[in-house]
This record gives sequence, structure tokens and C-alpha cells, in this order.
Amino acid sequence: MPIRTILLFGGRSAEHEVSILSARSVANAAPKPSIEIVPVCIAKDGRFVSPERSARILNDNDKSDRGDDDYSMELWARDAGIDCVFPLIHGTDGEDGTLQGYLEILGLPYVGSGVTASAIGMDKGHMKHAFAAAKLPLVDFVQVQENDWRNERERIMRAVNNALRLPYFVKPANGGSSVGVTKVKSDDDLAAAIEKAFRFDEKALVERGIDAREIEVAVLGNDDPKASLPGEIIAAREFYDYEDKYVDDKTQLVIPAKLPKEKTDEFRRLAIAAFKAIGAAGYARVDFFLERGKNRLYVNEINTIPGFTNISMYPKLWEATELKYPRLIERLIELGIERSRTRASRQESAMTWFDEVKGIV
Ligand SMILES: Nc1ncnc2c1ncn2[C@@H]1O[C@H](COP(=O)(O)OP(=O)(O)O)[C@@H](O)[C@H]1O
Ligand SMILES: [Mg+2]
Repeated sequence: MPIRTILLFGGRSAEHEVSILSARSVANAAPKPSIEIVPVCIAKDGRFVSPERSARILNDNDKSDRGDDDYSMELWARDAGIDCVFPLIHGTDGEDGTLQGYLEILGLPYVGSGVTASAIGMDKGHMKHAFAAAKLPLVDFVQVQENDWRNERERIMRAVNNALRLPYFVKPANGGSSVGVTKVKSDDDLAAAIEKAFRFDEKALVERGIDAREIEVAVLGNDDPKASLPGEIIAAREFYDYEDKYVDDKTQLVIPAKLPKEKTDEFRRLAIAAFKAIGAAGYARVDFFLERGKNRLYVNEINTIPGFTNISMYPKLWEATELKYPRLIERLIELGIERSRTRASRQESAMTWFDEVKGIV
């Protein structure tokens, strides 16, 4: 029997189109007959699209602006014989735990991190706190809450000056694809950069900007995760910004990254530590900075739903390490089902305990 898997894609974020590309790649490469893919799109208006029309969107024969008024995934999934869901929606409402919570309520196993890890991984403030608790190396940063900024701007500017050296990187805590990220080279430009970050979130981070190589590692597994070889991103612009990621397409991926053996080992070890620090599951991509000159390494961020087209960093890293794309897809689905079984059996054991206690009383 094939594993019947809903491929969930689209979503309301800036990464809607990227998600379609990731999903299209997965639908084409998922090994048959072991995996049966049922596509379901979340349209730009936030509504679900029926599997028939979703398949047309994947084939580029339909638009994904509006959902179907008369389609309810919840009702449909009840007796559609679904074994697993593969959510491939990046950013808000897809990668931040909300969608994962919805799938939990529906009782459907799914690929990737659960609610808590997704939420922590999406919020760069909470993410850094989890990393700091695990003693991972981080660049210095100052967190700014919009309300505090409105009331005590001078104090916050001074705090940034005292804590950090120019240039700074200012970013919204919840973001992705470099949206709202600014490199600040003079204190005169700091306020505008913070205001810009607040267009996207009520919390902004100001970080020490470092001159660094950008190294990424793919992690795969549940309780005993493994790390791929590291890869390097060589941005065509001043930093790896939105245009660079999706418009210019001149970014270069170097796989594996050219690094001495000890550094490679250190990146792999820290990637697994970062994965565990937020309690991730299934897969995640961990992004690092390797400071030029000093040769020091810092964890930048973790992405719990990394770009997943056949030419994206995550699948390419596994291909270079040991797993080809079709097998990787299958493995992720197996891991999702495995995690759901472990959780279900724990819930059963908890229920049995309650029954035992009630028996005593
Ligand atoms: N502290 C920093 N020092 C140097 N470059 C940075 C720093 N923070 C971000 N950048 C640059 O900005 C890009 C996007 O920032 P990042 O924190 O990864 O946000 P996103 O979640 O949008 O990818 C990075 O890939 C890097 O090129
Ligand atoms: Mg990034």
C-alpha cells in the first residue's frame, strides 16, 4: 500500500511562490509506488483549494489567489485515508507552529517539527534564547520591542551603541527571506532601519554585523538527528537579501563548502546541537556565519521548513552527503509517521495511568 501523503503548499506569506516551487519538485520526485501524493494548496487568501484544482496549480495550469468556498480539508481528510501530511509552507502560518497545531487537532501525522519547535524556530528572539541556553556561539544582539521604542527611543539607541559596534544588522524577529532586513553603517540610519523592521513584526533585533562567510548545514532525524556536510552560500549582493534569493538568482552554492576538517566537524556538531536546542524534529537547516580573519563561527538561525526544491541547499546537502532527493522525501515522511506513533503511544500510556489512578481512588 502506498503511503498516502497530502502535500500542503502555498500559504499567505511572501514565500507563496517559493512554496509552489518546492511542492512541484516534491510531487515530481516522490518515489512511486511507495508514496502517493495528494496536493492541497492554501491560496493567497488563506483558504484551502481542493486537491483537483491544487494539482492544476502545481502543473501551472491554474492560479492560487483564491481558495475554494465549498472545499473543507477538515471534512475531506476524515475519510480520505491519509497517512501523513508534508507541509511545505515557509514563513508565517506555515513554519511558525500554527499549521502544525491545526494538523495536531485534525489528528494527522506530519513531516517536520511540532508546534513548540516551529514557533521557537520562527521567532529569532526566542530562538536566540534557546541557543544561548545551549551555550551555542551567537553574534551580540539587542532586542527591541515596538512599544518600548515608542516610549524610550533615546535609551534604546544608547543601549545599542554601548552593546554593539557598527555596522549593525536590523531585522524583524519574525521574518524570512531577508524581508525587512537592513545593514546599517551609520548611527544616523539606525532609527529608520528599526522602523522598517516594525512594519513586519512588533519585535526587532539589532545585531553586530560581521564580515563572514555563510555556511549552512542540513539536519535530518528525530531523537538521534544526523548532520550533512556543510555548504556555502556566496551572495551576489552586499548581503544575502530578498532580491538575491528570489529575483536575481545569481547566488552561488558551494557544496561541500571548502573548509578544513576540524571546521567541518565543528559545524556539523553545532548544527545538531542547534536542532536539539529548539526541540526540532524531522528536518531543519542551520545557518552559520564564519567570521573572516578571526575564523570564529556563530549560529545565525534555524529554518524548520527549509527551501526544498531539487536545487535548494537542503536537498543538495543530503545528496552530497548520502541521500538522493527521492529517498530523502520518503525518509522525511517515514520520520513524520514515526514521531506521530511515538507521541500517540505516550498519550495512550498517560491515559492508562489516569485510569489506574481513578481505579485506586
Ligand atoms: N549579524 C549579521 N552579520 C552579517 N550579515 C548578516 C547578519 N545578520 C544577517 N545578515 C545577512 O542578512 C541575511 C538575512 O538575515 P537572516 O537573519 O538570515 O534572516 P532571514 O530569516 O530573513 O533569512 C543573511 O543571510 C546575511 O547575509
Ligand atoms: Mg537566513
